[in-house]
Amino acid sequence: MKLLIINGPNLNLIGRREVDVYGKENLDQIINWVSDNIRGPNMDLIWFQSNSEGDIIDKLHWAMDNNIEGIIINPGAYTHYSYAIRDAISSIEIPTIEVHLSNIDERENFRKISVVKDVCKKQIKGKGKEGYLEAIKILCKR
Ligand code: DQA
Repeated sequence: MKLLIINGPNLNLIGRREVDVYGKENLDQIINWVSDNIRGPNMDLIWFQSNSEGDIIDKLHWAMDNNIEGIIINPGAYTHYSYAIRDAISSIEIPTIEVHLSNIDERENFRKISVVKDVCKKQIKGKGKEGYLEAIKILCKR
């Protein structure tokens, strides 16, 4: 199973950024934890992080031509307003799950809106790094 896991803007700073909200672990530690905790052979996880909307869109397009069977995306703040990322997700027709480390419904009002939610199979929020693992399991079962 070949999955693409995209993290958007400012997620390169977790571990140092708002640790009360996002925790003390950095992205590399989360990636290692997820890799150590996935079970089953033949799991190919491709991790990608970018602070740029265009690079995220290009990576979603790339997924179409590279046999990606499922996508997990934490679009960071783009979640709340990027119709371009939403359109890219719906254009590529690869099952996609939206993940957030924090519970976006229990924070500022602007975070309660996700413009990508409707084009994703599921939204997972507030479970920290466990959310990535849960999303992988859901995509594997499909
Ligand atoms: C986030 C929530 C977003 O509102 C925020 O802009 C982020 C991280 C999360 O993982 O909880 O950068 O996507």
